[in-house]
Amino acid sequence: MSTTSHDDGRFSRRAFLGAGIGGLAVGALGGAGGVAWAHADADGASALPSDGVPSTTAYPFYGQAHQGGIETPQQRHAIFAAYDLTVSDPRSLQVLLARWSAAIAQFQRGRSLGAVEPTRDSAVPTDTGEAADLEPAGLTVTIGLGPGVFDDRFGLADRKPAKFAKLPALPSDQLDPRLTGGDLSLQACAEDPQVAYHAIRNLSRMAQGTATVRWTVMGFGRASAGKGQTTPRNLMGFKDGTRNIKEDADFDAFVWHDGADQAWMKGGTYQVARKIQMHIENWDSDFIADQQSVFGRSKQEGAPLSGTHEFDVPDFAKKGSDGELAIPATSHVALAAHENNGGLRILRRSYNFTDGMNENGQINAGLLFVAYMNDPAAFVTLQTKLGRVDQLNEYIAHVGSGVFAVPPAPASGSYVGEALFR
Ligand code: HEM
Repeated sequence: MSTTSHDDGRFSRRAFLGAGIGGLAVGALGGAGGVAWAHADADGASALPSDGVPSTTAYPFYGQAHQGGIETPQQRHAIFAAYDLTVSDPRSLQVLLARWSAAIAQFQRGRSLGAVEPTRDSAVPTDTGEAADLEPAGLTVTIGLGPGVFDDRFGLADRKPAKFAKLPALPSDQLDPRLTGGDLSLQACAEDPQVAYHAIRNLSRMAQGTATVRWTVMGFGRASAGKGQTTPRNLMGFKDGTRNIKEDADFDAFVWHDGADQAWMKGGTYQVARKIQMHIENWDSDFIADQQSVFGRSKQEGAPLSGTHEFDVPDFAKKGSDGELAIPATSHVALAAHENNGGLRILRRSYNFTDGMNENGQINAGLLFVAYMNDPAAFVTLQTKLGRVDQLNEYIAHVGSGVFAVPPAPASGSYVGEALFR
C-alpha cells in the first residue's frame, strides 16, 4: 500500500499548509484558498460560532502525548464507527493498525491516500477522492481497541488493562445488539463533514479482509464544550457541556491513563460511545418548566435553577419559596454532578445525530454520547444512577453502546497500539 501523497498542485499546496504548521496561524492564509467555516457572511454576521478553527488547520498525528480528538477543541462534525475483526492472528491486526495510522497521518494533513486519478485506465483509484479539493478541516481520527482485542484470538490477554471489560448491562438500557460492541473504533471529527466522511470511508475500505463495519453514527453539530469553547446546544435545545472537563489538571486526574498496570496505555484513555435516541416529539410538546426541571437548568441561559448565569456553581441544597429544592434531586445535573458522586468526573465529547425520520414519520435523532475517562467504571457509576432515576429517561433511550481502550499517539514512524505487541 502506498500512503505517500500526490505531488500534483492541489495536494502539495495543502501539504505545505499542513506540514507542521497546524493551528490558527495558518488562518492568515485563508485568502489563498482556505475559507474558514467561521467566515463572516455577506451581511458581516458570523455564520458560525467564533470558536471553530479555520479549515486550513492540520493537527499533527505523530509524536504527541495523546491521540487527537480527545483534548482537541471539539470540531463541528463527527462520524463514529465500530468494527468487528474478521481475522484471528495478531499480525493482521498489527498491519491494519499500522496502515490505518499511516493513512490517518496523511488525511490529517489534508492529503489523499494515494492516486485519485490513476494514470493507467485500468487502475482502481487508491483514494475515493471526495476530499480532494478540501482543506484538512481540523480532522482528527482517534483509534480505539475493544475488549475483543484481548480475548483468546490475538494472544494479548495478558496485555488487557485490569479495569477494561465489556460494559455491564445498565438500568434503562434498550441496546440493539446491531449497534453495540466492536473490536475497534474510529472517531473522525472535522470542521467539514465531508472530510470526516472521507476518512471513515477510506479507512473502512482499507480494512476489507481484516475488519467489517459493525455500527456507525454520523454526528452533526458538537454537543459538548472543550477548552475555551462556547457551549453548544443539543437537540433538546439545552446548552450541553457547561461543566465539562476543561482544565489540564482535570485531564490529568480524570482522563489520561497513567500506565501503571499496562505501560502501553500510558497517555491513553478509555472511550465510551453511546447512541442515545431522543423521543423528540414528546420533548417538544412538554412544558418549559418540565424541560428545565429535567435538566435542573434554564433553557435559554443554561443557568443552574439555583442561580442566574450559565457558569454559576449549582447549589444543590438551595430551596425555593415553595420549600422544594431549586434543582430537583432527580434532575440530570443533580444526579451527574461531581459534588454528588464523590468527585467523579468524565470528559464528554458528544455530537447531535439524525437518521432522518422513522417509518412512522417520527424524528429519528438524538445524541452520539462520547466520553473519555481513565477508568470505565466512572461511566458505569454515573449511568447506573442516571439509568435508574434520571427524569431525562422519559425522553431518551440508550440504543447503542461500546467501550474502547484508546492508546496514546504513536511516535513518528510507529503506529497506534504498537507498544501492545512488543
Ligand atoms: C441524550 C442524553 C443526554 C443529554 C441530552 C444530556 C444533556 C446534558 C445537559 C444539558 C447537561 C447540563 C450542562 C452541562 O454541564 O453540560 C448535562 C450535564 C452532564 N451530563 Fe448529560 N446528557 C445526556 C446523557 C448523559 C450521560 C449518558 C452521562 C453519563 C453517564 C451524562 C453525564 C453528564 C455529566 C457528568 C454532566 C455534568 C453535571 C454537572 O456537573 O453539573 N450525560 N448533560
